[in-house]
Amino acid sequence: MSDQRAVSPHVLIFPLPLQGPVNCMLKLAELLCLGQIQVTFLNTLHIQERLRNCTGAEVYFKRYSNFRFDTVPDGLPEENPRTADEIWNLLQSIDAVAVPIFRCMVTSGVYGPGSENPVTCIIADGIFTFAAGIAGEIGVPLLYFDTISPCGLWTYLCLPKLIEAGEFPFKDDNLDEIIRNAPGMEGIIRRRDLPSFYRTNDVNHVTIQLVLKEDKHIPLAQGLIFNTFEELEAPILSQMLNVCPNIYAVGPLHAHLKTRLAAETGPEAQPTITSNSIWREDSSCISWLDTQPSKSVIYVSIGSLAVITKDQLFEIWHGLVNSGSRFLWVRRPGSVTGLDSETEEIPSELSRGTKERGYIVTWAPQDEVLGHPAIGGFLTHSGWNSTLESIVEGKPMICWPYFVDQQVNSRYVGEVWKLGLDMKDTCDRVVVEKMIRELMESRKNEFLERADEMAKLAKASVSEGGSSYADLDRLIDDIKFMNI
Ligand code: UDX
Repeated sequence: MSDQRAVSPHVLIFPLPLQGPVNCMLKLAELLCLGQIQVTFLNTLHIQERLRNCTGAEVYFKRYSNFRFDTVPDGLPEENPRTADEIWNLLQSIDAVAVPIFRCMVTSGVYGPGSENPVTCIIADGIFTFAAGIAGEIGVPLLYFDTISPCGLWTYLCLPKLIEAGEFPFKDDNLDEIIRNAPGMEGIIRRRDLPSFYRTNDVNHVTIQLVLKEDKHIPLAQGLIFNTFEELEAPILSQMLNVCPNIYAVGPLHAHLKTRLAAETGPEAQPTITSNSIWREDSSCISWLDTQPSKSVIYVSIGSLAVITKDQLFEIWHGLVNSGSRFLWVRRPGSVTGLDSETEEIPSELSRGTKERGYIVTWAPQDEVLGHPAIGGFLTHSGWNSTLESIVEGKPMICWPYFVDQQVNSRYVGEVWKLGLDMKDTCDRVVVEKMIRELMESRKNEFLERADEMAKLAKASVSEGGSSYADLDRLIDDIKFMNI
């Protein structure tokens, strides 16, 4: 390691350029700025442009003299969608175009050891296996921050064990077979609860090879950062210590930021926190929620990457309408495949009589929506940010996972944390109706009580004296005093 003592701490954060990862990494960045650390946030031009057009994030961060955005191209044509089925192209393009520029920046360029402003620590998404080599090249510590759930990441890290034990590839099509070689998950995870791409059964499949490559690089980091809290995932975090002894569980980050900002500005001031949305939020839904009875509305959103078919749209629509529940539904642009036109989206026989019960937006101020008293439940794809936001606001969930860590998250919400219902692998109007009635009517109080208990634990963890609060203080000190 070259001598870092002479320079002031300067962290470069390189997120996976997608809504979910960028959202929580920006929360971490702001928390490090509050800790008096200099932060450079390396966005792709595509994400930076979307942030600039949809929120005031760029203006918001100007309040921090120790924060700057920098950008690299992701190499994809601007018109390319960055959705679930494009991720492989995005990763290959980042490797080919963004990584050489990033390497140049931190080795011989503007943030290199010989520059005015050398980087002294790199925080990168765990999927960026290139970061380990580049951090080693310039002799600075690397902290991997996998923005998916630790329980989801643990199923990645256990893959070599599953292969060795003959549990992967799956020997037959019984998806309810319990997985036995994922330590800390005994009796919890079935085959169907593993990440959806484990169903490919082809060990040479590109996504399986990507997971195995990540497995080799995660242990090379000098520390692992997680957006979770001890009280939620202690069994998994203790397993992770076998991969890396230096773990910082600092989440829920969005709640942690609120706590620290309130401490800065005084509890009476409501600190305004920027939204990091890359779609324009339609806040008219808040005024609509203001007219709805308490805990009467189910909020429906499938995050920023998942896509659904026209048939699935109709099944959810029929289930929602037949449940009789009020609903606020996010229809993200491009999230429904196979539609002939906008008008075809809403079956005419179903659009009558639901205007006063249902409200549809293309993108919502989700954190504000989940905190609204009218929201009684969340039909979600189980993305990790959405899951944590629902936990903090004490809102029970119906989980309909799409891919990546979402299958694991939905299993933990339903079976381990008991915060809702797991609707994985089903999209049927009768099941949707039944689960909404169960969550919003027959088992409403049971779920609200559980969710309220977990919300209290989440908020305590990010308050002074809490586990996440202490881990963030340790992270800030370790970066400041370079003792990573
Ligand atoms: C992706 C993966 O899907 C997810 O599994 C992984 O854990 C993180 O990366 P995404 O699909 O975008 O994330 O879901 P999620 O993690 O929930 O992030 C979505 C973010 O968008 C949340 O912070 C949510 O608050 C925000 N959002 C969503 C809005 O602000 N408005 C909306 O209408 C919908």
